[in-house]
Amino acid sequence: MAHVKDLLSVVQKYWELYIGIDDLLAPVIIELNSEYYTSSDSETDTQLKGRQQTQAFAAVEAVMRHLISRNLKKPSSGIGGFLVSKFFVKKNRILEAAAAHLCNINPDHQVLEVGFGPGLGLKEVFNKVSKGSGTVHGIDISQKSFSLANKNLKQEIGTGKIKLHLASVTDIPYDSCTFDSIFHCNCYYFWPNMDDAVTELHRVIKPDKSMVATLSLPRMKMVQKHGFMQYGNIDPERYMTSLEKNGFYDVVMKTIPFEDKEIDAIIAKARK
Ligand SMILES: C[S@@+](CC[C@H](N)C(=O)[O-])C[C@H]1O[C@@H](n2cnc3c(N)ncnc32)[C@H](O)[C@@H]1O
Repeated sequence: MAHVKDLLSVVQKYWELYIGIDDLLAPVIIELNSEYYTSSDSETDTQLKGRQQTQAFAAVEAVMRHLISRNLKKPSSGIGGFLVSKFFVKKNRILEAAAAHLCNINPDHQVLEVGFGPGLGLKEVFNKVSKGSGTVHGIDISQKSFSLANKNLKQEIGTGKIKLHLASVTDIPYDSCTFDSIFHCNCYYFWPNMDDAVTELHRVIKPDKSMVATLSLPRMKMVQKHGFMQYGNIDPERYMTSLEKNGFYDVVMKTIPFEDKEIDAIIAKARK
């Protein structure tokens, strides 16, 4: 009886994983097409085995690239979302801290983060406004990020100083001219329409206030080179051109030392 129970729990576990990865099997099916199974006349058994092994590895790689690319854009509740969220916490804390630092936040500021992921940047800003009348606001389109940040920031949210929304950068649930600072880390790559997003950000920021984006361009180039940016565009020029076109001025990109690393930052001010 115990064996049946064990077996059922294993089946359930894999079923949940399967649900989490839903359409991820598509690349495998494409890779393992009918040629995979049939050998040509000239192919020996050993050659067929070798070819099948290579094709199977390629299929697994394609699944991994698809899984990671999709979850970098919008973390899901499946295994991919779990893995990339762990990665964000480990690798991106410094980018979030640098953005909060570059925003020159004072304790009475109203601050917005777009694409907060696990919520590390929101925590940094919370510490900066905790002694004043300032508040911290976040928007993210991923239910996974929203739930994770709510969990990680439970105490801070309880103070009423942090407010999170499940919302897109193209439709920000705030009045015009609300924020003294806006920041985002590793995020502009995924915005569905750059001009719409930048216009909306320009609407909610106060006149002459700054918006900061942080990233590690060398690292993002590696991510792109390895095929993990299938649903994003890291080109900083595309973002900067849109800023200039849609009401921002003094648009600069600079590489700055922060803690023990170098990070890239794109900073712009809002002309109103
Ligand atoms: C690569 S993650 C970065 C998370 C975090 N800022 C970091 O650096 O660790 C991108 C985040 O932006 C969010 N995002 C993507 N497109 C968005 C959009 N259109 N509006 C708001 N958030 C978005 C994703 O859901 C995800 O949580």
